[in-house]
Amino acid sequence: MAEPERIIQHRMKKIIFATGNMNKLNEVRQILHEQNQILSLEELDFHEELAEDGDTFEDNARQKALFITEKFGLPCFAEDTGLEVDALNGAPGVYSARYAGTQRSHADNINLLLKNLEGHTNRNARFKTIIALTFDKQIYYFEGTVNGRIAYQPSGNAGFGYDPIFIPDGYDQSFGELPAEVKNQISHRAIAVEKLLRFLQGK
Ligand code: IMP
Repeated sequence: MAEPERIIQHRMKKIIFATGNMNKLNEVRQILHEQNQILSLEELDFHEELAEDGDTFEDNARQKALFITEKFGLPCFAEDTGLEVDALNGAPGVYSARYAGTQRSHADNINLLLKNLEGHTNRNARFKTIIALTFDKQIYYFEGTVNGRIAYQPSGNAGFGYDPIFIPDGYDQSFGELPAEVKNQISHRAIAVEKLLRFLQGK
């Protein structure tokens, strides 16, 4: 094993990623190249839905991370993500998951967003991720943003959520069309996770 990788593994110890979302878990593991040290809730046999009823990404991420740290007594990080659309004054934002209702359907959310953007030529938008990390009795935050635009129709089956209608700056294809390796190099989540990793490497 290469020296830097060995050092990272030694230093990272075990840390929980508090998410029930397998897409997020897979992405984070791919970004971190660090499978063993990240414990999922499933591996801890925890299957409840985590409450996230705050008004900001920070509130939601912190709520989830604190709950799991208190339950399992291990360092933990959680993240909250949303899509901010300029022509809709930043909506759906923190309400991205239940934009079209509590059924939290990806297809319904996409359809409603496209309907609300009808007639708008300003398609500028961004994905934002906030990670909250509980570590040494403190909370640290890491932010990642990727700018782009909302397509006129969904395309591609890769990724999840709003990916089929989000085209990142510098590309002509949506996150739904781009390979996972590309999304995981440039995404909101990748940027936030890289910051988390650098922080943990320094510990
Ligand atoms: P949450 O962070 O799980 O609350 O996600 C909020 C909403 O954004 C949900 O509808 C997710 O499916 C969606 N979402 C979260 N991350 C991504 C992403 O990386 N791409 C596309 N949609 C996402």
